[in-house]
Amino acid sequence: MLLNKIEEVREQIKTWRKEGFTTGLVPTMGALHAGHLSLIKRAKQECDKVVVSVFVNPIQFGPSEDFDKYPRTLEADTKLCEQEGVDIVFAPTPAEMYGEGNRLTNDTLTYVCPPFFYVNKLCGKTRIGHFDGVCTVVNKLFNIVQPDKAFFGQKDAQQAVIIRKMVKDLNIPVEVIQCPIIREESGLALSSRNKYLSEEGKKDALVLSRILNNIKNCYKKGITDVSALKETAYPFLTEKHDLEYLEILDRETLEEKEKADNNTIVLIACRVENVRLIDNVYLEDK
Ligand code: PAF
Repeated sequence: MLLNKIEEVREQIKTWRKEGFTTGLVPTMGALHAGHLSLIKRAKQECDKVVVSVFVNPIQFGPSEDFDKYPRTLEADTKLCEQEGVDIVFAPTPAEMYGEGNRLTNDTLTYVCPPFFYVNKLCGKTRIGHFDGVCTVVNKLFNIVQPDKAFFGQKDAQQAVIIRKMVKDLNIPVEVIQCPIIREESGLALSSRNKYLSEEGKKDALVLSRILNNIKNCYKKGITDVSALKETAYPFLTEKHDLEYLEILDRETLEEKEKADNNTIVLIACRVENVRLIDNVYLEDK
């Protein structure tokens, strides 16, 4: 069932609650791929009813980012959701979520702003205000759907850490479940932004997962010094790669480390054909 109105979703959720059903929420910006489908499948396994939100959230895009050209494929997304047995696809308009007017700033909207320590690194360093926008919309979706469980991908690892922190700090009664990254056979992490890449760009983009796997292998062979691990990346990079960051951090707190250990995550952001791609790997699978 495709719903666009907050009130319609609330009504349906109220009925489900009365009937004793549990609800899972999979928040997305649409352009669904196998990565999203893995979240939906997990939600179906763990909850009686599943809501997928499809909303390209204007307030998490910077002024020079790809909000206007972000892929919008609602018809195909709805079909995929139907095939997966999703109960509600919630696809509100920006006006439904934020009211009329397109100047949404902290002067006109109550924002949820995650702590500086978690934001002032990785993607947050260049995407100013991005995580304020993410936390604000996710909080709104939590309030609208009131899910028992919400499902997020490890691909956006910083986002997942920040959302867990928000849920803990604000005592939001939802369990956040993180699902593993889904990759093409080549190793390329699935992303809606892969649609912007040419065939050659897709090959160049494999460098991200190669760098991460190589660092993981080096760690398994006994190299733990973070600077030494980072240095192993440079031979992979060519003029086609515009590296934004390569960081080796604590996987729970995103704190810096001098020595890698089994609680470590390696994260990379790199532009290929001017498409900003991110990927990450845990040094130890848990
Ligand atoms: O990960 C995403 O697609 C978005 O950041 C999210 C969580 C749906 C919020 O708009």
